[in-house]
Amino acid sequence: MTLTAGQFLRLRALALERLGIEIHDRQRPTLDRRACRMGLAGTAARERFLTGAESGDPDSAHQLVSLVTTSHTAFFRNPYHFDLAAEHLLWASHRRGRAAAWSAAVSTGEELWSLAIRLAEMTGRRGGPVELLGSDADAAALARAERGEYSRASLETLETGRRGCFFHHPPSARGSLRIQDSLRQSVSFRIHNLIEPGWNLGGPFDVIFCRNVLMYLSRGHRRRVVERLRGALARDGLLLLDPSEHLGAAADHFCGGRNGVFQPAPLSSNPQRIPPSP
Ligand SMILES: C[S@@+](CC[C@H](N)C(=O)[O-])C[C@H]1O[C@@H](n2cnc3c(N)ncnc32)[C@H](O)[C@@H]1O
Repeated sequence: MTLTAGQFLRLRALALERLGIEIHDRQRPTLDRRACRMGLAGTAARERFLTGAESGDPDSAHQLVSLVTTSHTAFFRNPYHFDLAAEHLLWASHRRGRAAAWSAAVSTGEELWSLAIRLAEMTGRRGGPVELLGSDADAAALARAERGEYSRASLETLETGRRGCFFHHPPSARGSLRIQDSLRQSVSFRIHNLIEPGWNLGGPFDVIFCRNVLMYLSRGHRRRVVERLRGALARDGLLLLDPSEHLGAAADHFCGGRNGVFQPAPLSSNPQRIPPSP
């Protein structure tokens, strides 16, 4: 069963309005497959879902996020970013007594837990003066992030030593491993839609991970989000994107960009730290 032309247009309008996501014609087969996996196989189910989402029904709104976004992520994706972020956060906390990092599209949590692991490895302790916040528009993905429970398959990229040190076997979860409670200190999660104005997340953040989400946003939404990211970042902070991504029309708010590492622009009179090369 495929989305009718009318349904596809309605879905496209909803994705743009609610999440800032631009859907292209070539994505139609992928959306069809995803809709089927989510139990939206027939025309009637799709109609119910679309009408619900249009009228603001919360369940349909959650389904919309799962349908039009990809939650693909992994532990230590671009490992260099975690070394750099942890080093920068420790430097900032040494200077100011505290530091904060935000993963702005944390999906199922691997990105933020990787940072927590790297910080623990570098300091030799758990918790400490660095606060870590993970947010996402997808409530289901965020619930998994908070649970911190992962199948052995998704932990395969993690070195065995790290698995042993930072995960345990919860009695309830057969075959999966859960992040250790000691690592949860100073880590929090919040539902947050990047395109909604009036961000109220605390900050300023010394490091913001905003990887693999800007690429899905429309030009206008991407520009506004990048401007707000600039406002949420400390003057000497770091913004991390996937190395293949760009900032679009608001690129002049940042400088750098090598390996996906950006710094706020213009350079102030404060000394800036130039990140070391990988
Ligand atoms: C591909 S994942 C990126 C995960 C992680 N940052 C990484 O690079 O491994 C994209 C995430 O962006 C989230 N997302 C999409 N649109 C969003 C929006 N408007 N506000 C917040 N999160 C959004 C999706 O729910 C999804 O979890």
